[in-house]
Amino acid sequence: MPCLPWYGQIDGILQANLDIMRAFFLYCLFLCPLGLFCQVDFNKGWKMKPGDDPVYAKAACIDQDWAAVSPLQNWEMQGLPQYDGYVWYRLHFYLPRNLLSSSYLKDSVRFLLGPIDDVDACYLNGVKIGQNGHFPDEGKDAYRTAWDVPRRYVLPVNHLALHWDAENVLALRVYDGGGPGGMFDNVERSAGAVDVLDFVKMTVQHRALQKTEKNGFNYATQFENQYQKPIAGSLTVQVFAFKGQKKPLKTLQFPVNIPAKGKQEILAHLESVGRNWVYFEFKEQLSGKTTHQWQETPYVLTPKAGDRPEIHNPAVYGARPGVPFLYKIAASGKAPVSYASKGFPPGVKINAATGVISGTLQQRGMFNITLFATNSAGSDSKTILLVVGDNICLTPPMGWNSWNCWGLQVSDEKVRAAADALLSSGLADYGWNYINIDDGWEAPGRNAQTGAIETNEKFPNMPALSDYLHKKGFKMGIYSSPGPKTCGNFLGSYQHEAQDAQTWADWGVDYLKYDWCSYSGIAPEKPDLEAYKHPYAVMRAALNATNRDIVYSMCQYGMGDVWHWGEEVGGNLWRTTGDITDTWESMSGIGFSQDSLHSFARPGHWNDPDMLVVGHLGWSEQLHPSRLTPSEQYTHISLWAMLSAPLLIGCDLTKIDDFTFNLLANDEVLAIDQDHDGRQAEKKQQGPDYEIWVKALSDGSQAIAIFNRSEQDRDITTDWAALGLANYKTVRDVWQQKDIGKFGKTWHGAVYGHGVRLLRVY
Ligand code: GLA
Repeated sequence: MPCLPWYGQIDGILQANLDIMRAFFLYCLFLCPLGLFCQVDFNKGWKMKPGDDPVYAKAACIDQDWAAVSPLQNWEMQGLPQYDGYVWYRLHFYLPRNLLSSSYLKDSVRFLLGPIDDVDACYLNGVKIGQNGHFPDEGKDAYRTAWDVPRRYVLPVNHLALHWDAENVLALRVYDGGGPGGMFDNVERSAGAVDVLDFVKMTVQHRALQKTEKNGFNYATQFENQYQKPIAGSLTVQVFAFKGQKKPLKTLQFPVNIPAKGKQEILAHLESVGRNWVYFEFKEQLSGKTTHQWQETPYVLTPKAGDRPEIHNPAVYGARPGVPFLYKIAASGKAPVSYASKGFPPGVKINAATGVISGTLQQRGMFNITLFATNSAGSDSKTILLVVGDNICLTPPMGWNSWNCWGLQVSDEKVRAAADALLSSGLADYGWNYINIDDGWEAPGRNAQTGAIETNEKFPNMPALSDYLHKKGFKMGIYSSPGPKTCGNFLGSYQHEAQDAQTWADWGVDYLKYDWCSYSGIAPEKPDLEAYKHPYAVMRAALNATNRDIVYSMCQYGMGDVWHWGEEVGGNLWRTTGDITDTWESMSGIGFSQDSLHSFARPGHWNDPDMLVVGHLGWSEQLHPSRLTPSEQYTHISLWAMLSAPLLIGCDLTKIDDFTFNLLANDEVLAIDQDHDGRQAEKKQQGPDYEIWVKALSDGSQAIAIFNRSEQDRDITTDWAALGLANYKTVRDVWQQKDIGKFGKTWHGAVYGHGVRLLRVY
């Protein structure tokens, strides 16, 4: 419906204006003169309307009947389920001139809006003041997402669009190309005066020290000055045992002098003292304003692996007869390790130096295979069940995918580097073995003669790449869409399904992620179940017609309750939600929402809550350390293991640090994910801010995850009987890999804020 003129709903407007005036009055009276909160909060008061009409940009547009929307949650969760396309957001706010009083510079105003998924144009009182990304209607192939760019629009104080000491209207034209839409990160959104501090970017990163240096690690605080004059001030670093503790354990102070348009780095050395919180505060000299950050120290729980070999392959493996077979013995221990095996049916041979077993098995059946690993410190053996039949992917796939780090900038070189790093870091010894290329490998057009899909210049030779990976024991994954275009606007497989499946098989592909994306333009506007299933069934048939075992990863964000029929169309895994990102809201929102799906996970068929967001991520060449705190990262890995989720590392493996390695190389945690029986955990208990999930394991023991969803550390008591575990007594702390005692009836322990205790009871 187009907007009505102003006089349409005068009462509502008067009321809204009164509310705004009241808030402004309080603000002027108390807060701003004190130098506090001299900005307008934009985290509430928004309204939205799906559709697209230029009149929505105008200040005079009546939006009283628009739906209220929180910028802290995507629009799918607020009345627009699975909606992709255009939505307008509007916000009325009062802009007090004394906003400028607290600023040293007093020359411009900034609007902070946080990331917007995917494209936005921002209008103030009808005047366009900025845009991020490109809308599809800007021209052929124009669409470009800018979903992870924090929006910041700046205007000089005398800009005509600014209505000082009056009501203003901010209108956002937003387009979402797929997955969650709109604003949803829990970040600052406000209007405020630009000040000297706005020109300073402060980032804090921990850096593990080399083993040869002192114990502990350095925190590197990097300052970047975008101002044309030097900026000075001081940095205070304080260590606390927990957030909220009054007296710091340690305080360090450093002078800061950042050259004009330059950088400065300050290293603060901290001894390794387990888990603490570190507070970093920069005070800018001219304005006296401060900015701060908290960092939880990256505490390592996983014990270091010994020199003796230990085999970590899951207890079961499925393969089909008559197609190329590839399997690697995954064993930690001091190099060089030599490998052997016993019990394989004819058709395969082992490379004793790499542990790679390859060939073609002809005989169907179940075989007990013994794997051996030997080095100078000793040897290990493990018997696993090899099932040669129709089913593959009997435990959730584990490996690496390019998306969460490189986004569309993935290349052959980066894929090889990831594989090399999986090997050199030792992670491959724990069973991480898929190397999956996500979107961005495709050439713009098909081969003019044959119609075959081709690679772009970043991937000069796909068969050579798969050969490189296979020789090292890795499997190679690829990505496409049933639509004409992928989500990243690259070429999709529409109407070339069988041909593409054969091309990939010829290249040596072992895994396909098939992403709905532009298929929404092919499917009926309101697809019924058959319409959802159709493109996935077509591609599964095409994959089956090739001579390879190809794991089939369905990516359509849970539409049509895919968990009910994903197995029927041959999916080995299916995404259950929109895209994950490295925030607590995103990760915990996805992870904790999986409870109702537990009955759909089983060997060969897995719910997929999306890829891991630990390590250095970026969805582009600009990488940053995961924004999850260390405790949140323990929660992430523990929860995904409890969910029997596919584990696909999404970070730059060449930058792996001790903490991230500790998260990904804990064999007892991984064994919960890779358990032979493939059951997904169930939520058994829930309090106001905690959840207890339980997963039955194949040896009769139970894994229990006690999650603290609040920010504060807290003690949690569990009642074994209430959890249905009355017969279990011995409790093992899985991250620390040690038994922590016998608990007959209850277990009581501390759980860090946003953290977890992962236990196994026998
Ligand atoms: C979608 C998927 C992501 C990724 C991108 C690639 O957003 O959900 O995982 O594959 O497409 O464009």
